[in-house]
Amino acid sequence: MIEELEKLKQEISEFKAKSTEELEQFRIKFLGRQGVFKDLTSNFRSVAKEQKKEVGMKLNELKNLVQNKIEDFTSTDADSDSKTSEDFTRSTAGAELGSRHPISLIRREILDIFSRIGFSISEGPEIEDDWHVFEALNFPPEHPARDMQDTFFIEKDPDMMLRTHTSSVQSRVMKSTTPPIRTVSPGRVFRNEAISSRSHCIFHQIEGLYIDKDVSFADLKQTLSYFTKEFFGKTEIRLRPSYFPFTEPSAEMDVYWGLETETDHRITKGTGWLEILGCGMVDPNVLTNCGIDPKEYSGFAFGMGIERIAMLKYQIDDIRVLFENDVRVLNQFRGA
Ligand code: PHE
Repeated sequence: MIEELEKLKQEISEFKAKSTEELEQFRIKFLGRQGVFKDLTSNFRSVAKEQKKEVGMKLNELKNLVQNKIEDFTSTDADSDSKTSEDFTRSTAGAELGSRHPISLIRREILDIFSRIGFSISEGPEIEDDWHVFEALNFPPEHPARDMQDTFFIEKDPDMMLRTHTSSVQSRVMKSTTPPIRTVSPGRVFRNEAISSRSHCIFHQIEGLYIDKDVSFADLKQTLSYFTKEFFGKTEIRLRPSYFPFTEPSAEMDVYWGLETETDHRITKGTGWLEILGCGMVDPNVLTNCGIDPKEYSGFAFGMGIERIAMLKYQIDDIRVLFENDVRVLNQFRGA
């Protein structure tokens, strides 16, 4: 038996696998269920008592030799695939971090500005019912915004739709909370529009809602003025009369951008003023619809499109740039 073991030792020592398959055959030959070691172990029983110690040691030595051969191969001679996946010594210096999308950056900055003056953040579903998107917000049944032109309806249930504005979140908050309410609602909205350099079917909004006793138009103006200063670093705003079904009175807020550069002239069409958002005092009908007594409470609301603000801030001319995820664009926001 000793002799047999010596022969095997030589065979194992000389073995050199050229491929993983060869190594596997080697493993099966020696360590497999019907392998060499299985035989040797059963033969071991018949070995004379005084030889047992020596044979046992040799057997162990051989087993270790086989094991080492297999391990050595996996860590050094293995084919290149398994080599890269196991190479823990590679430097991580080349790993590149991604960047935040400009929409996320702007969204975060706006929410941050409002949270500093006590606004909470609220979110709601993108698939909404008619009540939250339109009815609660005082849209008459024949209002053009309900038209198929603007709204994506859910075919199986005409009462359900993709929300066209995040004002739907405000209906939800008003319905479920007793004032005071101070909240901003960011989210994706959907409108059935032709995609062009200035419009896209999916875009993002942030809406604000403030309801308490004695909230006045002056509070609205002050809040927007604070936001404009924090976000754009501009101090002059103006409120132009406008119309929204859910606010009365309603206004459009412009910021005085200036007329210093050629770009200023172009984006403000030579006026120096830029339209930023829609706003107004929450219509008493809306408060009533949502279970808030308009005799006791009043409030204001405002809403803006994040894409528009991002385009202004980063001087992007075409809205589609924000949806293409071209790394040459995204890389410019690294570390922001
Ligand atoms: N919901 C309006 C829109 O989608 C914006 C708005 C919000 C206007 C709140 C006034 C008050 O355009």
